[in-house]
Amino acid sequence: MTHAVPNRNWSYPTAIKFGVGRVAELGEHVRAAGLKRPLLVTDKALASLPITAAALDVMDAAGLGRAVFSEVDPNPNEINMAAGIAVYKAGGHDGVICFGGGSALDLGKMIALMADQTVSVWDLEDIDDWYTRADASVIAPIIAVPTTAGTGSEVGRAGVLTNSQTHRKKIIFHPKLLPVVTICDPALTVGMPKFITAGTGMDALAHCLEAYCSPFYHPMSQGIALEGMRLVFENLAVVYADPGNLDARAHMMSAAAMGAVAFQKGLGAIHSLSHPVGAVYGTHHGTTNAVVMPMVLEFNRFEIQDKIARAAAYLGFDGGYAGFHDQIMELRAVLDIPATLSAMGVQFADLDRLTDMALEDPSCGGNPVLMTRANTRALFDACM
Ligand SMILES: NC(=O)c1ccc[n+]([C@@H]2O[C@H](COP(=O)([O-])OP(=O)(O)OC[C@H]3O[C@@H](n4cnc5c(N)ncnc54)[C@H](O)[C@@H]3O)[C@@H](O)[C@H]2O)c1
Ligand SMILES: [Fe+2]
Repeated sequence: MTHAVPNRNWSYPTAIKFGVGRVAELGEHVRAAGLKRPLLVTDKALASLPITAAALDVMDAAGLGRAVFSEVDPNPNEINMAAGIAVYKAGGHDGVICFGGGSALDLGKMIALMADQTVSVWDLEDIDDWYTRADASVIAPIIAVPTTAGTGSEVGRAGVLTNSQTHRKKIIFHPKLLPVVTICDPALTVGMPKFITAGTGMDALAHCLEAYCSPFYHPMSQGIALEGMRLVFENLAVVYADPGNLDARAHMMSAAAMGAVAFQKGLGAIHSLSHPVGAVYGTHHGTTNAVVMPMVLEFNRFEIQDKIARAAAYLGFDGGYAGFHDQIMELRAVLDIPATLSAMGVQFADLDRLTDMALEDPSCGGNPVLMTRANTRALFDACM
């Protein structure tokens, strides 16, 4: 069967095998990467789905066994990581196939990173050159197979791990967390629950939007972010209404990867608010981003309105900044995203604590407007 979006092999920022049906090539790419006993890491819900059984069948047929670890929670933590490392070591594995959404991809990355380290994972947070504390020579190869189109973790050099003690979400970084091969098969995303399709797609948009607005100089990321936004605006509502549309699914998968490439330019207040809310309440990351997105746009308005007007022109929206803001509100409504954080269960009594946590989040550094205790607390109020 042919599709309007062709199957392609890309080599940026890593080897990407892109196209419908390409999960069938998993065995050959795993073997080419030199792995003989990979561990497939996925999450509890995915473990029982036919797409996972089919991937294990492909591994098996290639003589790679069908070892799987799936004790992975949404917003995974160090307890999931320790359990995964125990299984990895007991099975004598030599690499990780990360199969799933951002939660499974990131936890699989953490297993590959930490199985043979002596440092604590929290010492490898994405701060300055902390990653040099890790012994790079013992990091296992990572193969990524995303089943959502949002986080872009499949082309990123980081993983997000929640500290179950402190309820802090930490970005763990190492250059060797970039998968050696990524298989982007849009057909794998067709079975996502509707609200996950919506939330993950809005995460991709948040990455592109925040990267585009961040004040740092990175024209390459700027261009990628702009085209990524176009793909989301033109395809997210389509896949929400018509989940089996494989061309629109393919464009969303591209947008997700583009967002993650772009956000090395910086993120901003959407992510610094969303990380503590996700860590404390266990809300879905991308959905939380979507809730706060229009309020953050308004918060940054006077720093970004010229830039956003330029984006609006490219995207074909009338009305400059205001027209762009209207489009975000409309997309949020079409996708049935909650209008406020209160509607997601966030309590007023927690806002001081959430404000402190937001200000500690490294994403703050990329926000166009300097985030202070007063204005961040007011922003949380606006989101309620
Ligand atoms: N590494 C990064 O750069 C990065 C960037 C953004 C977000 N994140 C992190 O990623 C996590 C969120 O990832 P996510 O949004 O992909 O959600 P997720 O991985 O938590 O998955 C959400 C739910 O969808 C289900 N699911 C996934 N794919 C499915 C499919 N094809 N069919 C049926 N069900 C499916 C999962 O089982 C799960 O229940 C958060 O922890 C977030 O902090 C990481
Ligand atoms: Fe994100």
